[in-house]
Amino acid sequence: MGTNTPSYNNDDRGRHQEELRELPNGRGKAALDDRDAAHAAELLSLAQDQMLVNQALVEKIFALEQAEGALRSSEHKLHELLAHQLATREDERKRISQELHDSLGQNLLALRIDIVMLHQHTTKRHYRLRDRIGSALDNVDVTLRTVKELMGELRPSCLELGLHATVEMELRKFTRASGIACELGVGSGIPDLVLGEEEVLTVHRVLQECLNNVFRHSLASRVAVRLDAAGDMLSMRIIDNGIGFDPAAPRKPSSFGLLDLHERVARHGGELIVRSERTHGTEVMLGLPIAPACPNASTAHTFR
Ligand SMILES: Nc1ncnc2c1ncn2[C@@H]1O[C@H](COP(=O)(O)OP(=O)(O)O)[C@@H](O)[C@H]1O
Ligand SMILES: [Mg+2]
Repeated sequence: MGTNTPSYNNDDRGRHQEELRELPNGRGKAALDDRDAAHAAELLSLAQDQMLVNQALVEKIFALEQAEGALRSSEHKLHELLAHQLATREDERKRISQELHDSLGQNLLALRIDIVMLHQHTTKRHYRLRDRIGSALDNVDVTLRTVKELMGELRPSCLELGLHATVEMELRKFTRASGIACELGVGSGIPDLVLGEEEVLTVHRVLQECLNNVFRHSLASRVAVRLDAAGDMLSMRIIDNGIGFDPAAPRKPSSFGLLDLHERVARHGGELIVRSERTHGTEVMLGLPIAPACPNASTAHTFR
């Protein structure tokens, strides 16, 4: 207790009362009454202070509860907004890809047919014109390839081929572009598993971002991907043998890849777990609820 705080020790109080009673002419009793009144006033003032403190505490708790509620509601809104933004972005990509296919792609194909015909009907005597038509044809072919690549980046063309084919094609593409060997292992239910395009797209986007991270950050020489379906859950593991990182470290302000994946997967009721340790590689585990049920077994292919 502080030095200014009154002490209510019962022994002291008894001794003081005895001393006061011994004073002559009733002065002792009057002094005793004064003393009790002072104690009562002090107690009252303390009780009032305590009530004020209690009231302030109740107000603070109430304000904190309100702030917590507002925070939870704004967090919920943020998740809804992100989910909406992701859905809108995918719809927009699909629309642009369709547009590229229907207008630009089809027109380029028609143009190519005309150029091929022109090329065939130009005799060797007009060799300069034939050369020009030949280079026009090359240009159209390059542009067609670019359009196809753009369409693939916007929305993978293999989605309708199913999960297994989509993952296989993505890994082949990655190995060709990066030189990093990938091994794919699949449970027995995977080759025949029929999923909706949106589910395949979610798995594809996760795989794409993880492979992108392997290429950009990991210095890995190998990647192992494992697909399994058990009951109503699909799981995909992507493991690299690279330098790893600390997943608990604060996110770089410009890094949104993994954050985006967490939102995307959560939107489908799934879960994404990232395990990594410096110099011990990285493992990303995707768990996604699916409609059909499939048993588990193993097959493996390697792409080089
Ligand atoms: N496979 C990996 N190997 C090593 N580091 C990784 C790997 N995946 C992610 N990281 C680290 O996590 C960070 C965040 O990744 P991400 O959210 O995809 O953002 P970005 O790739 O744009 O930096 C990366 O900057 C990198 O430091
Ligand atoms: Mg990334």
